[in-house]
Amino acid sequence: MFDIEKIRADFPILNEPIRGKKLVYLDNAASTQKPQVVIDAEKYFYEHQYANIHRGVHYLSQIGTDLYEGVRKQIQLFINAKHEYEIIYTKGTTNAINLVAYTFGRKFINKGDEIVITEMEHHSNIVPWQILCEEKKCILKVIPMQEDGSILLEDARKIITPKTKLVSTFYVSNALGTINPVKELIRIAHENDAKILLDAAQAIQHYPIDVQELDVDFLVFSGHKIYGPTGTGILYAKEQLLNQMPPYEGGGDMIKTVSFEKTVYNDLPFKFEAGTPNIAGCIALGTAIKYVQDLGIKNIMKYEAELFKYATKKLKAIEGLKIYGTSKNKSCVISFLLEGIHPYDVGVILDNSGIAIRTGHHCAQPVMDHYHIPGTCRASFAFYNTKEEVDVLVTSILKAKKMLS
Ligand code: ALA
Repeated sequence: MFDIEKIRADFPILNEPIRGKKLVYLDNAASTQKPQVVIDAEKYFYEHQYANIHRGVHYLSQIGTDLYEGVRKQIQLFINAKHEYEIIYTKGTTNAINLVAYTFGRKFINKGDEIVITEMEHHSNIVPWQILCEEKKCILKVIPMQEDGSILLEDARKIITPKTKLVSTFYVSNALGTINPVKELIRIAHENDAKILLDAAQAIQHYPIDVQELDVDFLVFSGHKIYGPTGTGILYAKEQLLNQMPPYEGGGDMIKTVSFEKTVYNDLPFKFEAGTPNIAGCIALGTAIKYVQDLGIKNIMKYEAELFKYATKKLKAIEGLKIYGTSKNKSCVISFLLEGIHPYDVGVILDNSGIAIRTGHHCAQPVMDHYHIPGTCRASFAFYNTKEEVDVLVTSILKAKKMLS
């Protein structure tokens, strides 16, 4: 059902020697590797089909437009949006959150209104709201994290109130791997007449997502974390909200008519897509999503859950290794520190063994402040990782411990 050797053979970089060693790529929360079909899709488009889209009656422009719009339809079905035009192409998660902050935020959030996030957000789900709060004199409220890296729903119920205009939070934490109780948070937000944005950057590649079933107002994710190209991303929002929101950027494609007296904005989704987009990237994102769908998201979940369980058990058994983020509901991220050793030093030694992990604050400095640590070592897993790779990781951590203690 899940032929790991065949899957690994689809990813050319996994055969690339790194520092003379076999690559063990465990930095999947930062970005995932690309299967050959995705690399080929982008190349094929440039070699055989390239032209700008939405702009010409000529053959190539029509092909490009059809492919690009076809992926929009594919993504609509992938996340079960009601309408194709509720799918807005962006440059990535950060760009999508900023779009919501600048449009929905500027129009609907005013002085004294509250925006609620959690202590575990990525910087891209903190800073856009801080900028908005500075401009509009609204208030940013933070649901605290517990020691295990989870939030308490009783805290959420106290902090989300009728004053809340927007709750903006992660589905899966990039720094700790915690899975948020998203259904309950959506319910609490709606009970208070607030809208809710879910940052699904670390969830879309691991779990099935149905935006209608969730009844979420905004959902954002990046293409490069679901095996697609960098510079691609998606904002989903309910039609009614998108219609009420002003455009983000002005330029080509987002207009119906322009004169010096008045510009009439285009219909959805184009109102939010100014300028020539990453056409080839979006087309290849469609190929990446098809690759994931062909593997089957449920098969992926099952395989990754088993691998994650194995890795957690193995790492926990290392004396002096502390895992940060121990909530019951966790995804494919293990953040850890070796007692008395700086994470950067561990990262360098692992790198010498061909192992790629991320070290540092993972763009979530408040999480590190909570634990009073400079950062962590973070191993993050994808469906192409194996138990053998976990064993290599464990051996190299033991080696680092010995060298640095
Ligand atoms: N957000 C990405 C990470 O967690 C870049 O590494």
